[in-house]
Amino acid sequence: MTKFQQIQEAMDQGSGKVAVRGWIYRERGSSKLKFVVLRDSTNIIQCVIDKSVVGEDKFQIIKKAQIETSMTIFGEIKKEERAPSGYEIHVKDFEVIGTCDTFPIGRDQSPEFLLDNRHLWLRSRRMTAILKIRSTYVQAREEFFKTKGFWRFDAPILQPNQCEGGSTLFEVKYYKAKTFLSQSWQLYAEAGVFALEKIYNMGPTFRAEKSKTSRHLSEFWMAEAEAAWYDLHDITELAKEELKFCLKKVLEERKPELEILERDIKKLEVAAKKKWPTIKYREALKVLKDKANMDVPFGKDLRTIEEEKIMEHFDTPVVVTHYPKEVMAFYKPRDPEVSDEALCFDMLAPEGYGEIVGGSQRDTDIKAIEKCLKDEGEDPANYKFYFDLRKYGSVPHSGYGVGVERVVAWMCGIDNIKDAIPFPRTMIRWSP
Ligand code: 4AD
Ligand code: MG
Repeated sequence: MTKFQQIQEAMDQGSGKVAVRGWIYRERGSSKLKFVVLRDSTNIIQCVIDKSVVGEDKFQIIKKAQIETSMTIFGEIKKEERAPSGYEIHVKDFEVIGTCDTFPIGRDQSPEFLLDNRHLWLRSRRMTAILKIRSTYVQAREEFFKTKGFWRFDAPILQPNQCEGGSTLFEVKYYKAKTFLSQSWQLYAEAGVFALEKIYNMGPTFRAEKSKTSRHLSEFWMAEAEAAWYDLHDITELAKEELKFCLKKVLEERKPELEILERDIKKLEVAAKKKWPTIKYREALKVLKDKANMDVPFGKDLRTIEEEKIMEHFDTPVVVTHYPKEVMAFYKPRDPEVSDEALCFDMLAPEGYGEIVGGSQRDTDIKAIEKCLKDEGEDPANYKFYFDLRKYGSVPHSGYGVGVERVVAWMCGIDNIKDAIPFPRTMIRWSP
């Protein structure tokens, strides 16, 4: 049996006999010579097919082969400066594995067309680069939590309650009853920390977002962490450490992909080197007033436009803490020292990427939580399990959730998070 190499391995070998397989990325030719640029998941390589070497019959086959035909190639590899990736294979023989109709995707197609054909567009160098960066980021995160002594803990996707507000819940028919798709892992993580103390996960998360923006998906992946005995300061430091670790890994391992995406790598390097500041919401309002002449009254959540204005003054992610308690989710506790502020935080990314993380210390005061739930129109009776956690040996604990696609979008420097996930779902798109 032939032992095939990946294209990058063949290039690393640099000379001599090679056997590679992949898909035709580009092709051109004359009646005697055909140039095929072959791609696989690792790289692209130019292959030269000469009629006098492969024979008339085979040459007729390759002459007709279109872009995205899958094939094997056997030949000799050589350095060739004029070839797109610096090497060239002089083909001795080849086999077509899967023939190809005219590929529907050509140059300059609209974003909507590319989304309709996402199952085919995934093969583009752009999508392949983004997906590799996403994979490296997620793998780095696993490594981070392992070295920090965190356990992986999985929560149900079908959940009877809201965590982040009833208006974005997806309802699901459940036998003769109804339930909802998970808006967050958090409420179950709060049970998990009483057994495992320090836990993390990453899972599909659902929000019926009714606005069309470049930062909201209906199905996205949230990467969450929760820890017993952690207060607001501990948890914000953990979030910074996690994301910085992942950013450094991506910079170490995915430079070629960042280059394919034409990412300004220097900006990421600055963020990886510098200390990431923490400021209070009230200080953020002051930045808005002094530097952007924007009057935002205390008591409003920050909108995209305000986040952007604040972040114009930073070149690293920034943690903003102590948002107004009145507009925060029911589980975020009041600061005992400043009663209109909550012990919570968001992390904002630079270059206009905005909120990438949301987290908080968790309220342990049953009465306070009950009141907030009632104010949100919820029946506290539905949260019995959550109150039990406050009844049986409660401890201070904190956690956060990272929007995976938002982090990937920032790292890749892309302008819409739809490209940070293989098959995006939004209010107006749920296929293919
Ligand atoms: O700020 P959020 O709503 O926080 C929570 O859900 C907490 N329960 C998490 C926790 O403490 N364990 O969501 C967390 C992050 C946001 O900062 C954002 O990055 C991302 O999830 N996110 C979305 N990403 C894409 N599309 C959406 N519709 C998103 N909604 C939130
Ligand atoms: Mg949030």
